[in-house]
Amino acid sequence: MAELTLSSKNPTGVKVDALVVGTQTTSDGVAVVGDDLPRDVVAELEALAPALGITGARDEVRTVPAGAHLKAGVLVLTGLGARDASGSFPAETLRRAAGAAVRELTGASSVAVALPAADEAEVAAIAEGALLGAYSFTRYRETAAGAKAAGPVATIEVLTSLARGAKAKAAVERAATIAAAVHATRDLVNTAPNDLFPAAFADIAKAAAKGTGVKVTVLDEKALAAGGYGGILAVGQGSSRGPRLVKVSYSPSRPHAKVALVGKGITFDSGGISIKPAKGMEAMKSDMAGAAAVLHTVLAASRLGLPVAVTGWLCLAENMPSGTAQRPSDVITIRGGKTVEVLNTDAEGRLVMADGLVAAIEENPDVVLDVATLTGAQMVALGTRVSAVMGTESVRSEVVTAAEAAGEQFWPMPLPEELAASMKSKVADIANIGDRFGGMLVAGLFLQEFVGSTPWAHLDIAGPSFNEGSAFGYTPVGGTGVAVRTLVELLEARATK
Ligand code: BES
Ligand code: MN
Ligand code: ZN
Repeated sequence: MAELTLSSKNPTGVKVDALVVGTQTTSDGVAVVGDDLPRDVVAELEALAPALGITGARDEVRTVPAGAHLKAGVLVLTGLGARDASGSFPAETLRRAAGAAVRELTGASSVAVALPAADEAEVAAIAEGALLGAYSFTRYRETAAGAKAAGPVATIEVLTSLARGAKAKAAVERAATIAAAVHATRDLVNTAPNDLFPAAFADIAKAAAKGTGVKVTVLDEKALAAGGYGGILAVGQGSSRGPRLVKVSYSPSRPHAKVALVGKGITFDSGGISIKPAKGMEAMKSDMAGAAAVLHTVLAASRLGLPVAVTGWLCLAENMPSGTAQRPSDVITIRGGKTVEVLNTDAEGRLVMADGLVAAIEENPDVVLDVATLTGAQMVALGTRVSAVMGTESVRSEVVTAAEAAGEQFWPMPLPEELAASMKSKVADIANIGDRFGGMLVAGLFLQEFVGSTPWAHLDIAGPSFNEGSAFGYTPVGGTGVAVRTLVELLEARATK
């Protein structure tokens, strides 16, 4: 990851490849905003802006020559839109503006960011956005030169008069820890499924936890069979590469709360015997984004030293069609004894998650949160940038509040009781599919059957976890790392409760 430092240097003199400043829309056009920019530079840019088509709108990034007054190579103007009623920019606006500017600078090595920050929280938002934008996935680029050309910036200096304060330093350190967790989550999602299969994922979890004090336990097929994990085994049985359940525990002494996180980790979802159409199937390498987010949230909680016990459960399987695959009409038994008639093998996420939820709840957590790329219906309902959250009302609200603070979009969705009847099975306790309409809610209701009275929220991140469109703000193409920031924020909130 890029190295980030805080500095109170004047932007005029910084010798970097690129200097990032803000533009804002005002009643009479566009204004250039940034800490301590020389007046003549500002005046010149503002005079040129209309001819350059620069409006100061959000998501607008323009690179211009730095001119004789500045030591930087180029000047990057990133749009902040209009100030809000209180005269400031929302934290998420700063995060995105910093991220969009840095993201466009692949090829530049050093960047200084001089955006307006009124307090430490805003400094942290700028730092976090810049780091989130400084991402690229180069694992499969053959030549070193190719990798270098596509590489993100190496050093980021955030210029602010608050640089020397301990509060700003701590806030930026937190931002760096979170950004690293998001990057690592994106890396896992972007990794090709021939390299990332359940056992490989388990090995990565072990390696990532090494030296952190986080304990990783791996249940292989034998252990899963002994433990009655019928959902994970059934989904995994069609693949030559067997399933795993990975438990990742962070256990600080005298924790203020005990939180369980369950992640869907289908390393590739072909649909199984209920096979998916070929078109777009490649995106199903991202069907483990929930498990990746859970793993790196637990590790981030440990790095931040949060006084909250967090146990992550990664439900890992590859959903493949084969002579050993489960069939539509198979009846399986989830851990704990409930039977499920599998009417569609492509509704596999809920099967592995049911096992994971049951296992998580056996340890009596205060709350359990599950994160899954569970349904295409999530995207029909909310699109590709807004995730859904369902479950116990108070926990659902807690997630929405945390998401808002973290700069992620999670929207509350209901679990209408009457829809549950559509999952009635003719032979088993429940079927794994129900009404097509409200498919996301049906999946949520299925999971609800396995959580009993434990306070619970279900996060469906199907759309937001994988960006199949173009990059925007600090969000790259491919894996986005969604949910990590919300979950860390929620753990921090629980820590201070
Ligand atoms: N992994 C998919 C859901 C998904 C779809 C995630 C698109 C991201 C993008 C899930 O396993 C699935 O296939 N769900 C089915 C359920 C249906 C068979 C009831 C779906 O949504 O079509
Ligand atoms: Mn599926
Ligand atoms: Zn799936």
